[in-house]
Parts: sequence; structure tokens; C-alpha cells
Amino acid sequence: MATSEQLKALLKSHLDADDARFFTIVMQIAAQEARQGHGKLATELKEFVDAAKLKSHRASTIPLIQPRGELAGLLSVSYPERRLSDLILESSVSERLHQVVVEHLQQHKIRSFGLSPKRKLLLIGPPGTGKTLSASALAGEMNMPLCTVLLDGLISKYMGETSSKLRVVFEAFQKTRGVYLFDELDAIGGKRSNGNDVGEIRRVLNSFLQFLEEDHNESIMVAASNHADLLDFALFRRFDEVIQYNLPDASLIKEAMLRRLSLFEIVDFEWNDIIERAQGLSYGDLSKACDDAAINAILIDSKKIKAAEMLKALKKRRSLSESQ
Ligand SMILES: Nc1ncnc2c1ncn2[C@@H]1O[C@H](COP(=O)(O)OP(=O)(O)O)[C@@H](O)[C@H]1O
Ligand SMILES: [Mg+2]
Repeated sequence: MATSEQLKALLKSHLDADDARFFTIVMQIAAQEARQGHGKLATELKEFVDAAKLKSHRASTIPLIQPRGELAGLLSVSYPERRLSDLILESSVSERLHQVVVEHLQQHKIRSFGLSPKRKLLLIGPPGTGKTLSASALAGEMNMPLCTVLLDGLISKYMGETSSKLRVVFEAFQKTRGVYLFDELDAIGGKRSNGNDVGEIRRVLNSFLQFLEEDHNESIMVAASNHADLLDFALFRRFDEVIQYNLPDASLIKEAMLRRLSLFEIVDFEWNDIIERAQGLSYGDLSKACDDAAINAILIDSKKIKAAEMLKALKKRRSLSESQ
């Protein structure tokens, strides 16, 4: 049993909102109970402290950052609530992303053995397969802000001084915990570059590579590219994980459409025909086609989506995506 001193100390630390003290006292009580042969109670108390610590750790990882000054034009910050389960992912991709989340949440344990959790990810694959969305879901899962750096904009806006701007971003990266997304990495990571800005791009790529080597903090870095074939070879080995995203196969097409149309009633769908028409489209295209069909149903006050309507919407999306 806890002593009256311990009970008073528990109450006091609670009233003072001193979590660290509170947890220490509970752990003392747990140790005492264990010595007295009350192993089950001791384990329960320890589990309670572990769970509470994890929760308070997660809550405290959301710093309210608002980029100011120079940083304001380089980073856009949001606080996504999205989860990985909101995406449809191949199981291999899903497993690797979940692994990153688990390693992040338990990084102190991993670091206490001198090891490092995975925290630099390169996501590659065709447009509309969920790379940007994955970065946002990782931020949601880890309770961190998503800080997006648009390299394309960075380069065109600050021609000649991009490397120094990149340093400003990396300083923020060291200081403020977050998921930092370098979207459209091919803008700086390309082997070949168009026209007269080759020298500039080369310099930016070199400083990016150097920053990647130097940094050892707790933020997560996600770089994404639709054009892996254009990326410089040197880039790949600087990341802890390179994850390939693909267009959906037949079963994922069906899953994506069913999920997108979950509020509607599907009428006379011949899935083989639908899938055939949808083959080669991205999740992004599929979502838009489903939305088109759904809006047409709503406009005639119906909750039914007919196969013919769906096929028409898919055809339209296919011709739009092929013309791009
Ligand atoms: N794996 C996915 N699961 C569910 N929806 C997706 C997925 N990938 C893309 N989408 C849909 O397509 C849109 C664009 O996705 P995005 O993440 O920007 O693709 P990428 O960055 O790979 O080009 C999303 O807003 C979403 O509606
Ligand atoms: Mg994207």
C-alpha cells in the first residue's frame, strides 16, 4: 500500500500539474509493491505511467509555429488530422510507413541503444498516388506540424540565392520538430536541368546533399518526386527509406472507388468493365471520376450511381489525364 506521505505527494504533484514528479511517485509505489510480492499491481502501475507519458509526449510535440520573416516565403505550415488509414496503400508501403511512425514514437528507447530511428524518406512514383497525402498523414499520426517546402517556387523566386534560403529552412528543421516535406524534389535533384540555370541547380543540390548528411535531429524529412528517373543517383543513398508508389491494381481500384462512393448506392456495376476502364488511372483520377459521378447523382436528387454514369466519368478522366 502507498503511504500517506506518498498519497499527499501524489495529490500535490497533480494539483501543481507536475507530471514528472507524479510519474516518479507512481513508479516508487510500483517498486514498493513489487518488493512486497504484488507483481500484478506493480506492472499495472508501470503500464499506466508508460501510457500516460506517451500521451503527454504526443500532446507536447505540437509546437505552434508560424513561419516569420525570411521563413514565411519558404515554408507553409499546417496541422493535418489525416491518418495513414485514410489512404489506400499497398501493404508493403503501408507497413513501411507504419514502421516509421512506431520508430518515431519510441525513438528514445531506440536511441538509448545508440541506434537511430528511420526519419529521412524518399517517396517516388507517378502523380496522384498519395505521396503528398502520405506526408500529411505521417504528420497527423505523429502529432507534428507539416512544413511544406516548395522547391520549385523556391528556385524560381530566389534565383541565385537558393542555397542560402535552403539553409534557413534547414535551421528551422533543426530547431522545430515537424514533418518537413520537400515536394517535387526533381526541381533540385535532377541529373539534367533545363537551360541556363544548371549551375544554380547544381549548387542547390550540393547544399541539399550536405544538409542531409549533417542533420541529426528528431524531425522527419519526406522528399517526394514524380520523376525518380530524373533524380541524381547520389540522392538515393542519403535516405533511410526509398518507397515506391504505384498506380492501383484491379483490387485497389475497386477498394478506392468503393471507399470514395461509400455514401452512395451503386447500381448494376459490372466490376470487370469498370476496372478495365479505370486501369492506368491514378487514385487522384479515380477520386475525381467518382466525385463527378456522385455530383451528377446529387443534382438529380438521387443517391444511386449507375454503371453507365461511372463509365462515362472514368472515360472523361482518362482523356483528361492522357492530354496532360
Ligand atoms: N493512396 C491514396 N489513397 C487515397 N486517395 C489517394 C491516394 N493517392 C492519391 N489520392 C487522391 O489523389 C489526390 C492527390 O494525391 P497526392 O497525395 O497529392 O498525390 P501525389 O503527391 O502522389 O501526386 C488526393 O488528394 C486524394 O484525393
Ligand atoms: Mg504530390
